[in-house]
Amino acid sequence: MSFTVSVENSAIKFPCERGETVLNAAQRAGYELPYSCRKGVCGTCKCRLVSGEMRAYSGDTLTEQERATGQVLLCQARPRSDLVIAPRKIKKIDPFARRTLTARVFRIVRVADDVTFVHLRFPAGIRVHFKAGQNLEVILPDCERRNFSMANAPHESDGVQLHIRHVPNGVFTGYVYNELKRGDLMRVELPFGDFAMRESGKPILFVAGSTGFAPIKSIIEDTLRKDSQRQMTLYWGARTKRGLYSELPRKWQTENPHFSYVPVLSDTPEAGTRSGLVHAAVLADHRSLAPFQAYVCGPPVMTSAAKRDFIAAGLPEQDFFVDAFTTRADEPPAPAH
Ligand SMILES: Cc1cc2nc3c(=O)[nH]c(=O)nc-3n(C[C@H](O)[C@H](O)[C@H](O)COP(=O)(O)OP(=O)(O)OC[C@H]3O[C@@H](n4cnc5c(N)ncnc54)[C@H](O)[C@@H]3O)c2cc1C
Ligand code: FES
Repeated sequence: MSFTVSVENSAIKFPCERGETVLNAAQRAGYELPYSCRKGVCGTCKCRLVSGEMRAYSGDTLTEQERATGQVLLCQARPRSDLVIAPRKIKKIDPFARRTLTARVFRIVRVADDVTFVHLRFPAGIRVHFKAGQNLEVILPDCERRNFSMANAPHESDGVQLHIRHVPNGVFTGYVYNELKRGDLMRVELPFGDFAMRESGKPILFVAGSTGFAPIKSIIEDTLRKDSQRQMTLYWGARTKRGLYSELPRKWQTENPHFSYVPVLSDTPEAGTRSGLVHAAVLADHRSLAPFQAYVCGPPVMTSAAKRDFIAAGLPEQDFFVDAFTTRADEPPAPAH
């Protein structure tokens, strides 16, 4: 049995099967809604339900007030009747924009104790379009998928660079850590996601935890290349100094008067770095975050704390952009049918 989902104030309608999420149904019908983690953690797919009934897990991601005003997470919303929704934006997917390719490992380097840098090259002559900050899905032999962000800027379109953190007991990242080698093949689909630079004159706070640096690197390189004059500060946090595995932020700082870099270590402070949690360093430096846009990327525990505390410090919610690096451990409980 399927239900019909309509978009308020538009002619857009699409079917959604019983048990299917509204986000998946929209994508199947060729529409793109804002989303990132797909696991009910980041809040990017937040949308107002105008009418209809649904099951919609939202954990701690939505506030009491948001729930009371009809906000739901479309990546978790499963209809129980026809629905009318009011998303922030919805657009037709360009069918040629997303591609599935078999890429070859061109370079692989262990850059920190738990981080591997993997440079994949596409087959000769193939280039893929993506926006700085977007991610790809690695397709595993059993057809399961894992997300990783492109760390290269979009103009380097003959391949992708990935920064892959080894998750303890993780199937794919364990394989990358222990077995993947130069010349191996990897099946990927790209691009996905909505974590991308928004036009504005506001100064930018980039906040990265560990490999959360990857999409932020892509955005910063793309922005600097376009000669943007926007004021940018990168706060990059890791447990130890080796976890801040790239010297690029120091180079950007030296070469660009409007870019600054604040390295933050949570375990062992060292000369030239701050200590504590990376989002707390941002709050320590600014009495009010009202004038800023913030782009925050890393483990869900960090992105959730940053969202809560930054908004409490005056950051307008519409100026908070997040990519939560969820894993299967963050998946919500299976819905009861
Ligand atoms: C949009 C997006 C972009 C991302 N970009 C990056 C990136 O650039 N770099 C990066 O390092 N990471 C990134 N991530 C995170 C990355 O996708 C995960 O770390 C990766 O999927 C882990 O895969 P795995 O196969 O190694 O782990 P999995 O095998 O999926 O396991 C992950 C963890 O979950 C546990 N687990 C497995 N199954 C279950 C279950 N059923 N219930 C509870 N726990 C379970 C495992 O024990 C393990 O601890 C991104 C995530 C998202 C959503
Ligand atoms: S995409 Fe739905 S909460 Fe992250």
